Amino acid sequence: MKFDTPATDNPIDQLKIIGKPTDRVDGPLKTSGTAPYAYERHDVVPNQAYGYVVGSAIAKGQIASMDLKEAKAAPGVLAVVTAASAGMLGKGDFNTAKLLGGPEIQHYHQAVALVVAESFEQARSAAALVRVQYTRSKGNFDLAKSLDGAIKPPASFGAEADSRFGDFDAAFASAPVKLDARYTTPDHSHAMMEPHASIASWDGDKLTLWTSNQMIAWSVGDVAKTLGIPKEKVRLVSPYIGGGFGGKLFVRSDAILAALGAKAAGRPVKVALQRPLIINNTTHRPATIQRIRLGATTDGKLTAIGHESWSGDLKGGGPETAVGQTRLLYAAPNRMTAMRLAVLDLPEGNAMRAPGEAPGLMALEIAIDEMAEKLGIDPVAFRILNDTQVDPEKPERPFSQRRLNECLTMGAEKFGWKDRSPKPGLTRDGRWLVGTGVAAAFRNNINEKSAARVRLDRNGMVIVETDMTDIGTGSYTIIAQTAAEMLGVPLTQVEVRLGDSLFPVSAGSGGQWGANSSTAGVYAACMKLRTAIIDKLRFDPADAVFDKGKVRSRGKSIALAKAAASGEIVAEDLMEYGDLGQKFQQSTFGAHFVEAAVDAATGEIRIRRMLAVCAAGRILNPKAARSQVIGAMTMGAGAALMEELAVDKRFGFFVNHDLAGYEVPVHADIPSQEVIFLDEVDPTTSPMKAKGVGELGICGVAAAVANAVYHATGIRVRNYPVTLDKLIDKLPDVA
Ligand code: MOS
Repeated sequence: MKFDTPATDNPIDQLKIIGKPTDRVDGPLKTSGTAPYAYERHDVVPNQAYGYVVGSAIAKGQIASMDLKEAKAAPGVLAVVTAASAGMLGKGDFNTAKLLGGPEIQHYHQAVALVVAESFEQARSAAALVRVQYTRSKGNFDLAKSLDGAIKPPASFGAEADSRFGDFDAAFASAPVKLDARYTTPDHSHAMMEPHASIASWDGDKLTLWTSNQMIAWSVGDVAKTLGIPKEKVRLVSPYIGGGFGGKLFVRSDAILAALGAKAAGRPVKVALQRPLIINNTTHRPATIQRIRLGATTDGKLTAIGHESWSGDLKGGGPETAVGQTRLLYAAPNRMTAMRLAVLDLPEGNAMRAPGEAPGLMALEIAIDEMAEKLGIDPVAFRILNDTQVDPEKPERPFSQRRLNECLTMGAEKFGWKDRSPKPGLTRDGRWLVGTGVAAAFRNNINEKSAARVRLDRNGMVIVETDMTDIGTGSYTIIAQTAAEMLGVPLTQVEVRLGDSLFPVSAGSGGQWGANSSTAGVYAACMKLRTAIIDKLRFDPADAVFDKGKVRSRGKSIALAKAAASGEIVAEDLMEYGDLGQKFQQSTFGAHFVEAAVDAATGEIRIRRMLAVCAAGRILNPKAARSQVIGAMTMGAGAALMEELAVDKRFGFFVNHDLAGYEVPVHADIPSQEVIFLDEVDPTTSPMKAKGVGELGICGVAAAVANAVYHATGIRVRNYPVTLDKLIDKLPDVA
């Protein structure tokens, strides 16, 4: 089915099940520990051996020699896989050739060997006996010192490195009110709960991988390319995923090494990347250095917006697209943005929740706060004053919907913004300095084609099969809601099967496109199934109604089970979008409000309350969506106050590479969170009229926190994370 905008009225609009705050259908499995994660699938294939990964001890250079004698002779060892034994890996679409290093080493903790043994302990113990001699070469690990050599990268995720509109230089030079400031964001780690893990099993030349992966079809393709086998010979199974945040968009070393290990050992092999290995072995969100220049008239109209961002990656990599939102968020007739890329020999930088916008807004939304203060305008009012309803760099292209102003206005009202003092540092609560901050949230909405198969079985059960994944987001639930609504059955009469490459290819989970795209694919398949049922019953399609487990037409009513009595009815279809992306700028919007307190003596920072107001089309399941947004807000609080991969600039690795050293927020850090969704339906997105929220929720949060800390203390911190050492020398004397 091809989507024609605007979507017409359709069975989803009944909203009997869609749009209702629905408990997760996989909740009981999750809470009772019976939703198995990849490494726990002891039962899928017998005789599983254990693999343990050895990571490179240098960041750049060569393996001079490898002595495997002792390791191979250790108790229980079945095989040792190295680049020398496995041969060259093929080049996948996502840097998979680097998943096993040697003789060339490209980054620290790059896998150099997999030791396979009867038990995990034996594999780990033998891994310590792998003797590797390295020849280290000089690497480049310092982004701040690499700005001069940074290059203009090719377009990344469809975004050109540079954009120009009007005459930025002249407008900025002549602007009566100006800001020119530099901001930095550090490297971040996904730090998901479930480690990257895979079980590999060969049946002749056929490979099955039980794994933890957000994008099944991409990864089938990449496993095949990397191992040099046809993709028809690869099956990936990933029904439950303990978090991904972009770190599991691609095949990583656990999957490839498990496959190579299973081949070498002649039996199934399971590999979980060790927690202390994950951060340097896999991908991370790259650090940025950003310069923002704003020019405005004295009455607060922006006349010039300039945003430049520098980030680094391994040779051949891409930039962090931190200027993307600045091309779209505020009006101004003169604009320039630019991304520059430095070659660094740190581990691979890549997508992490809201890649681009998350770090981009960390800078932009502090800059907007600073500019509002210079102008003497309230920061909510300043944002509203500079709203735009069209793409500011392609004025002929409207936003499909843009209700940023309503998010800001409603948020200000609910949060109690109006009595806020414009001056910082004025509110004391005992030893605490208290302040409030605001930031806009922006994230694009992307439509990806997505397919599904729906079956009506003889018992009247509706079974949905698609390779869509549920990374903890609620995909099972919203897909069940969609099928239930479309076929007029209760949720209990729907079974959803996900995450298996035997199923039709879905949009997968990434870029917050999963919810709208995958349910739209299920919608298409359900439309086809409805037609098949109507045909079979010889009902009139014009008046057939699916309701309460029955189909009604012209006074006749037949139970679905009966319609399928003579045999299961199956339908499969795909939803696709053609050039929809060119017609409209589709984006999601929000506003974040934060109250923070700073200890006047120690600089300790405590978030007191957070509010998000989001405009993201129809909300398919407000309970699941709220859960996504509060999780994202928590992650934003982490980015504001805690998260930072510390770079060892001598030897080129992330020092705090485990969950003890990489600090993320816990419940006690976030005492109060509220989420409001604007009542909105966007018929240009799909028949579901929905958009994504999973990434919108993090966008802008960190800046709202930083702005609240500024309002509390009068101290402007432009280098994240905002930690007490950056405040303590500047705090007012304690009374
Ligand atoms: Mo997302 S960073 O595209 O999983």
